[in-house]
Amino acid sequence: MSTKQTLAGVVLGTSLLCLGAANALAADETLRSLAEKNNIYIGAILNSQWFSGGLPGNYEQIHKTQFNIVVAENEMKFDATEPNEGQFNYGNGDRMVKYAKANGMRVRGHALAWHSQVPGWVSQKYSGKKNELLRVLKNHIEKVVGHWKGQIDEWDVVNEAISNNEPMWRSQSVWYQGIGPEFIDSAFVWTHAVDPDAELCYNDYNLEQGINPKAKAGFLLEQVKRWVANGIPITCVGSQTHVEDTTTDKHFIGSPDSLRSLAKELAKLNIKLKITELDIGFKSGINVSKSDLERQGKTFREYLDIILEEPNADTYLIWGVSDKWSWLGGLNRQKGLIYDDNLKPKPAFDSIMVRLQNFEPPQDTTKQDTTATDTTKTDTTKTDTTKTDTTAQDTSKQAIAHLGSLEALSMHFAGRTLSVTGAVAAKVEVFDMQGRPVFSAKGVNGSVELKGVSEGLYIVRVRSGSTNLTQKIAIK
Ligand code: G3I
Repeated sequence: MSTKQTLAGVVLGTSLLCLGAANALAADETLRSLAEKNNIYIGAILNSQWFSGGLPGNYEQIHKTQFNIVVAENEMKFDATEPNEGQFNYGNGDRMVKYAKANGMRVRGHALAWHSQVPGWVSQKYSGKKNELLRVLKNHIEKVVGHWKGQIDEWDVVNEAISNNEPMWRSQSVWYQGIGPEFIDSAFVWTHAVDPDAELCYNDYNLEQGINPKAKAGFLLEQVKRWVANGIPITCVGSQTHVEDTTTDKHFIGSPDSLRSLAKELAKLNIKLKITELDIGFKSGINVSKSDLERQGKTFREYLDIILEEPNADTYLIWGVSDKWSWLGGLNRQKGLIYDDNLKPKPAFDSIMVRLQNFEPPQDTTKQDTTATDTTKTDTTKTDTTKTDTTAQDTSKQAIAHLGSLEALSMHFAGRTLSVTGAVAAKVEVFDMQGRPVFSAKGVNGSVELKGVSEGLYIVRVRSGSTNLTQKIAIK
C-alpha cells in the first residue's frame, strides 16, 4: 500500500498480529488510569510553588490527570505545622487534602519526626532534655495526626534517622541526641494510637545499595525485624530513591536490583516497600543528550518494575512533576523528572507509560494489603480477570470490530503502513517493549510508513488533540 493520504476501509493486514485486545486502542490512557488498573499508586509532590500559587495552570491539570497519590513537598513538615510551640498551622495541609479528596487521590503525610526542618524553638528550649522532647514530639504527633485522622492514608512517621556513613543511627538529630533511638519506637506507637487505620512508614534515602549489614538498607532491615518482633506498628518502608544517572554522575551508589532485594526481605516481614521521592538526576552543568534521556527512561522503568512485580510494593511517587521546579539543583543535579521545563513529557514519561500499557500481571498475584482499607481506591487484585481472550484469531476479529466501532480517532495497519482515521495532524510514536522510542512522525493526517522499524513487538501510540490511542503490534 502506498503512503499516500488514503483513509477508507483499510483492512487489518494478515501479516499483522494484534495482541492484547484488552489493551488495544485504550483511548486517553494516563499513568493514573494504568496505575489503578494495576492496583498501584503513581504520584508526584504538590511542590511548594503550588501552595504559593506560582505555577502555570496546566501543572495541576497534569497532576490530577496523571497521578493518584500526592504528598506535600514541605507544607506538612514540623516547621510548617508547628512553627511556634503549641501554635499549629494546618492551612496548607488542609488545602492539599481538599484537592486530593476532590480528585480521588491517596494522601501521604510527610513527615512527623525528622532531624531537618525542625523549628528553632525545639532545640533552643529543649535540646538534651529527654522528658521535654518526648512531651513535645508526642504532642506534635497527636495534634497533627489527630487533625487529619482518616484523611491521611499513610504517614512518614520517621524520616532519615540512619547515618549515611556507617550502619548506625544519625547522631545529628535533636530527637536522637535528646531521647536516643527509642524516639522512633515511640513515634510509631503514638501515631498508631491516634490513627490506627493509617499506614505507618519509616522513610529514608540511599536504600538502593544492597542489604548487606554494612549498607544503610542492611542496618534498616535489622531494625525493622526488631520493631516487628516488638509489636511496633510499622507497616511500610519508604525508599526515597533520589538516585543519579550512573553514566554521567560517578557517585553511583544504588540500583533497582538492590532496592528489589530490600523489598523481598521486607515481604518476609509483611512490610510494604514504597518508592516515595523518586528522581533520577544528571550531574549539573553537563549537556544531557537524547540518548541520556532515553537511558534515564529505562531506569525509571526499572524502578517501576519493582512496584509492578513485587507483591508488597504499591507506590511509585516522583519528587516533582517538571524539571523546572525541582529541588535537585541543591544537590548539583538536573533534569531528574518526567516532564521537562515546559511541562512536556520526556522519554521517561513514555518509558513508564509503555511499561504500564504492556505489563501483564503474573497470574494469582494479589497486591499485599497489610493494612487498613484505602479510603481513596477500589481494591482490585493484580490479576486482571477481565482480560479478553488474546489468541490471535479471536483478537484480530475483536480488534477489527473495535476499530470499526470507534467514531473518532482510530488506526489501521497493513504491513508497515499505519493509517489513522479521524485525526488532524496526529502524532505517531512507536516504542519497543522496553519503552525505547523507535519511530515517530508528526502531522499525520492519513497514512505513514513505519520506515526502518525492524520485525518484532511494538507499542504504537497515536495522539490527536487530547486523545491517545495505543495498540500492541507485531511486525513480521
Ligand atoms: O519557605 C521559605 C521561604 O519563606 C524563604 O523565602 C525561602 C528562601 O530562603 O526558603 C523557603 O524555605 C525553603 C523550603 O524548601 C520551602 O521552599 C527552604 O529554604 C529549603 O531548604 C527547603 O528545601 C526543601 C528540603 O526538603 C529541605 O530539607 C525542598 O524543597 C524539598 O524538596 C526537600 O525535600 C526532602 C524531603 O522532605 C525528605 N527527603 C529529601 C528531600 C530532598 O531534600
